Amino acid sequence: MKNAAVVVLAAGQGKRMKSAAPKVLHRVAGRPLVSFPIALARSLGARRIVVVVGHGREAVEAAVRALPGGGDVRFAVQASPRGTGHAVMAALPQLAGYTGPVLILSGDVPLLGRASVAALHKAYARSGGKLAFISFEPAEPSGYGRVIRDEGGAVVAIREDRDCTRAEKRLGEVNSGIYVVDAEFLRRGVKKLKADNEQHELYLTDLVSLAAKHGTAGVVSAPPDEVCGVNDRVDLARVEAIIQAGRTIELLRGGVTIRRPGTVQVDLDVRVGRDVELGAHVELRGATEIADGCRVETGAIVVDSKIAAGAVIKAYSVLEGAVVGAGAVVGPFARLRPGTSLAENVHIGNFVEVKNTRVGPGSKANHLAYLGDGDIGAGVNVGAGTIFCNYDGYQKHRTVLEDDVFIGSDSQLVAPVRVGKGAYVASGSTITKDVPPDAIAIARGRQENKERLAPVLRRALLAKKKRGEQK
Ligand code: UD1
Ligand code: CA
Repeated sequence: MKNAAVVVLAAGQGKRMKSAAPKVLHRVAGRPLVSFPIALARSLGARRIVVVVGHGREAVEAAVRALPGGGDVRFAVQASPRGTGHAVMAALPQLAGYTGPVLILSGDVPLLGRASVAALHKAYARSGGKLAFISFEPAEPSGYGRVIRDEGGAVVAIREDRDCTRAEKRLGEVNSGIYVVDAEFLRRGVKKLKADNEQHELYLTDLVSLAAKHGTAGVVSAPPDEVCGVNDRVDLARVEAIIQAGRTIELLRGGVTIRRPGTVQVDLDVRVGRDVELGAHVELRGATEIADGCRVETGAIVVDSKIAAGAVIKAYSVLEGAVVGAGAVVGPFARLRPGTSLAENVHIGNFVEVKNTRVGPGSKANHLAYLGDGDIGAGVNVGAGTIFCNYDGYQKHRTVLEDDVFIGSDSQLVAPVRVGKGAYVASGSTITKDVPPDAIAIARGRQENKERLAPVLRRALLAKKKRGEQK
């Protein structure tokens, strides 16, 4: 298969998805459907990869280019969706000068593995080198093209569901939409396709009967879980479940404890180290990395974040685009937004939101705070209810807390503002001016105690109430 050409069909709309987005951009385990056949082609050492685009082509092309190595992919445009045969015709100019086997993959069949492609190649060689395809026997064959065989068992045609007779509909063996076709045979074959079917489309599947007429059409079967296509969101959910079941086994075998397998979602690009413990309903998404010895507790959602060794993400915390240092403790119910970077042994407690803020080693914000656009040094203590007032309605401003600063509870820091090393901000302060190192800043109303006045006030208020006065 090395150096072969690969065509990926991805121009269809996917009506059955009932979606504004093209079908091949729907994601499973964090990756768009179209990325799967491309990754497979790459792993096979394909020489040319041609993706046929049409519906939503700008979006599909952009998604493909963004994939690792996506810059090498060539695109062919199928201007109107006139069937899978028509889609392959659109790809031919990109295959100019190429001779040899062409592997044709569907943009909506994500779980195909290399072993099945190798078996397909053998079937191709055995059957005379014109065409071979992968068939399978799904639990529910309706919707798929049926494989029609003669009395001797040789494949004679593929008939689409809508074109089948009642008897043909009962056949359990169906076409997966994965083929290897000789480039020359393909060029000549597609010219002969006719739209004489229920959908008035040019069907690639008609090449199978053409190959059978001129020799044999090769076929090899694969497990249904590997070649089932995604046509609607039921299929999408099924594929996700298959991938997640595989991920769980992989992680468990790799030294990860999963308390409630089946409830945890781990995207394919996520990396998890050893002795990591995942609680129930944890979601690890995107390009997340969890280093050795971390614990991620129940209901935590971690997206595109890096968690260093031994950190603990407590229950129901939500992290996105954050970096968490070794031994740090986050949550429960904490929110780390993009640009957050916590050094080692930082503690971020319940109901604390951190955005675009660096927090130095050992610093703590344990309760109810908003730290936005800040720069916090080492050994800083941020009291409960502290707010970085970072936004004036037009621009964001930075708050700088140097090392060893203590911020008393319920303080507001009106940015831009800097609190110098070792300074102390008294509870309840609204800080609008820089605080020099080692100073104590108090910015709140002074307290006055009026001795024995409370009972007097109470009597007066009660008398008013009895008179029916409001105030
Ligand atoms: C196709 C096969 C069917 C097989 C099934 C397996 C044909 C005629 N039928 O049916 O035998 O059982 O796959 O999943 O080939 N596409 C284009 N341009 C088009 C039409 C489709 O690029 O004009 C692309 C789609 O984006 C998709 C793939 O080809 O990635 C398959 O198209 P789809 O409409 O899903 O075909 P099925 O009806 O599933
Ligand atoms: Ca399909």
